[in-house]
Amino acid sequence: DTNDSRIYNEPHRPQYHFSPEANWMNDPNGMVFHEGEYHLFYQYYPDSNVWGPMHWGHAVSKDLVRWEHLPVAIEPDSLGWIFSGSAVFDAANSSGLGSPENPPLVALYTYHDPVGAEAGKDDYQTQGLAFSLDNGRTWEKYQNNPVLENPGIKDFRDPKVTQIDQGKWIMSLAVKDKISFYASDNLLGWEHLSDFNPDWAAYGGVWECPDLFPLTTPEGEQKWVLLVSINPGGPNGGSATQYFIGDFDGKKFTTEQRAVKWLDYGADNYAGVTWSNVPATDGRKLFIGWMSNWMYANVVPTQVWRSANTLPRSLELYSIDQEYHLASRPVKELEMLREESQVISGQNIILEQELIELQLQSSAADFSIEFSNSAGERVIIEKEGETLFVDRTESGLVDFNEGFPARHGAPVDGLEIEELRIFLDRSSIEIFINNGELVMTDLVFPRERYTRLYLEGFENENQLHYLRSVW
Ligand code: FRU
Repeated sequence: DTNDSRIYNEPHRPQYHFSPEANWMNDPNGMVFHEGEYHLFYQYYPDSNVWGPMHWGHAVSKDLVRWEHLPVAIEPDSLGWIFSGSAVFDAANSSGLGSPENPPLVALYTYHDPVGAEAGKDDYQTQGLAFSLDNGRTWEKYQNNPVLENPGIKDFRDPKVTQIDQGKWIMSLAVKDKISFYASDNLLGWEHLSDFNPDWAAYGGVWECPDLFPLTTPEGEQKWVLLVSINPGGPNGGSATQYFIGDFDGKKFTTEQRAVKWLDYGADNYAGVTWSNVPATDGRKLFIGWMSNWMYANVVPTQVWRSANTLPRSLELYSIDQEYHLASRPVKELEMLREESQVISGQNIILEQELIELQLQSSAADFSIEFSNSAGERVIIEKEGETLFVDRTESGLVDFNEGFPARHGAPVDGLEIEELRIFLDRSSIEIFINNGELVMTDLVFPRERYTRLYLEGFENENQLHYLRSVW
C-alpha cells in the first residue's frame, strides 16, 4: 500500500473519495475488473495542478472504496497526448497481442496531437491501443498505432469498447456532436457502423465520453443505455452527462425517447463511464464520474492535487408511468465506511465528526436540510414544490469562479420522495433521492467543517453515520 496519510490530510482533501496523490486529474478512464481488482485509470498531468499533456494515471481497488496508487500507466509519445478511453479484457486473445494462456488487457484511447492542433489541422485526434500482459502493471503500445485514423473532424475521441454477442467488439466514439459506432473482431481494425444524434438531444456543447451498455429492466427485459457527456450545456451550467434509453441491434442505436434525461443534476459529475468485465455473478453496472466541471475545474481552491471522483454507483433502470429512467445507487461496499451510527431526532443536530452519511425519511411535501459552521457558511438542500435545490452560494470558498456560487435545481417530476441519502466529505456533497432515482453531486469548500445540521420536514427517526477516512 503506497498511500501516505500525511499528504491526505490537507484542507479540502477528500477522505473517502478517490483523488490523485498530487497534481491534475480529470476523466476516469479504462475502468476494467480483472483478477479480483477494479482498475481505475484517469486523465492525469503529473507535472502540474492544471490541465496539460495528458497521461493515464492508475489505481486499483478490491472493494471500490480503498484505492492503491500505482505508477502512471500510459505516457504521451510521438503520436500525441493520451486522452480518454476504455479498457477491456480480451479473454479469447482476439487481438493476438497475448496468448491463449495469458490473454491481454487492451486499452483504447485517443491520441491528441498537440502540434497538429496548434497548426489548425482537423485530424489531430486518432485512436490508439496499448496492452498489458501483467494484470495492468505495465502497458505496451501497439506497434501499428493509430488503430483508427481521423476522417477530418476536429473532435474525434473517447473510445468506449464493449463486447456483444459472438465476441464482436463495439466502439462508441464522440465525434463533435454525435456518437459514432464502430465494430471490430480483433480490436485492431475498426469498421464504421452508424451515427446517433437525434435532433431533440442536448447540444449546448461538444459531445464527449460516450458509453453504451445493456441493462435489464425490473421486468426482465433488456434495454440499451447510452451515456453522453456534454460540455458546456448542462442543466445547471457547464459540464453534465445526458443519457438515452433504447435498443442496439448490433449496428444502430435507436430510441423512442424524445426528451433529454440527465444522469445527475448537480454541477459536479462529468465524463463518467462504467467498468467493463464485471462478473455476471455480480451483475451490476458500476459507474464512477469525475467530480468537477470544466467551468472551474482548473481553479478550484486546492493546490497539491486537483479533482476527485464521485462515489462509485451502480446504474439501474426504474420506471415512472411506464417510462424508464436511470438510477445511480451508491454501491453497497460504501457501507464499510460506517464507523459509528446513531438515530437522530429533532431539528437541530450537532455534528461531532466531519465525514457523514445521513439517511432521512421524508414526511412533508417540502423539506429543508442545512449544514453550517461557526463561520456562517452553509449549504442548503431543499424541496420547494416540484424542484429540489442545492444552494452553495454561501457554502465557503466560492469566489474563485463566477459560475461556482449558485443554487442548482432538479425537477422532481412525478417522483414520490421517500428517502434521502446524503454523503458529505471534506469538499463534496452527494444527494441520492430514493436510493439514486434523482441525484445531485456538488463540490463545496467550507473554510471550517460543518458542525451543525438543521432539518425541517422529516420523520423523527433518522440515521446519522459517521464515516471513516480511507487514506
Ligand atoms: C472530457 C475530455 C475528453 C478528453 C479529455 C481530455 O472531460 O475533454 O473528451 O478525452 O477530457 O483530457
